[in-house]
Amino acid sequence: MGTKIFNKLNYSLLPTPIHKLENLSRHLNANIYCKRDDLTGFAFGGNKTRKLDYLIHEAIELGADTIVAVGAYQSNFCRIASAYGAACGLEVWLVLGGKRPEKATANLMLDYLFGANIVDVDSYEWNDWEERARLLTRELDAKEKKVYSMPIGGSTKTGSLGYVDCMKEIKEYSDVNGIEFKNVFHATGSAGTQSGLVVGKTLMAWQGLINGIAITKNSEQITKEVKALSEETGKLFDIKINDADILVDDNYIGEAYGIETDGAKEAISLFAKCEGILLDNVYSGKAAAGMIDYIRKGVFKSTDNVLFIHTGGNIQLFK
Ligand SMILES: Cc1ncc(COP(=O)(O)O)c(C=O)c1O
Repeated sequence: MGTKIFNKLNYSLLPTPIHKLENLSRHLNANIYCKRDDLTGFAFGGNKTRKLDYLIHEAIELGADTIVAVGAYQSNFCRIASAYGAACGLEVWLVLGGKRPEKATANLMLDYLFGANIVDVDSYEWNDWEERARLLTRELDAKEKKVYSMPIGGSTKTGSLGYVDCMKEIKEYSDVNGIEFKNVFHATGSAGTQSGLVVGKTLMAWQGLINGIAITKNSEQITKEVKALSEETGKLFDIKINDADILVDDNYIGEAYGIETDGAKEAISLFAKCEGILLDNVYSGKAAAGMIDYIRKGVFKSTDNVLFIHTGGNIQLFK
């Protein structure tokens, strides 16, 4: 990652492994590898620990005693942010939006177990959630709390640094093992993961394509957000981002965010039955469905190595 090192906590177990999915590869006549970011460890792991290692370090550096995070009731980010708060002695406030479930299961159950305070927003609009979070931050400020407030998914330039590191790990794996990846696939939602990967690619002049499979919004919106955040993160390293490196495909969202698709159901079943790996309906299942569809359509050669970044989220299976 050039010569610049940014400080962070070390709760994530890194580097995460990369291994070939032998059975799935045979089944689909492809060379599929998996970067196991579902195994980052802390609080059941997933992509958000990489971001939170940087974010919570920054919060502590700034003297925060309280953190605010925003998301849906089954937010993976909020679950893991709650665990960081517990471990680092920070008060945690979560602004959770949507329809409050009758029973606290999966991520929401864990939010409570980690001791988070929860503020409900009866709306599916992200803008409403963020507006409530801004109000909450002002309320906590007025109570003399030192608040560090994070946007949906922890997608700031600080959070994105976690995925600059991930790209560095991918490049190191290729250098050590002589296995190059022409295509990487991952679920893209709030832009932080993809921005970090794009910045990492630019920094290391990595030649492959980063395919963000849209989960939350259409390609145009996500591309705009990834471009803005990549440019902001890129400034930390004094680099410019090439627009052509930002690839987003929104063909696998289905009806809406959070609603399962036939493709995701098939991907979950294939990963489970072929590899014993658990995906989820909201993120990794839809991303894998996209990758499988590209393979079936013959978008790349059967001899090309494809890398699926498993960003976690499988706690959602217990909803
Ligand atoms: C399991 C999982 N995968 C992927 C993503 C997408 O990451 P990002 O929001 O950084 O685009 C999320 C975000 O919430 C997630 O929870």
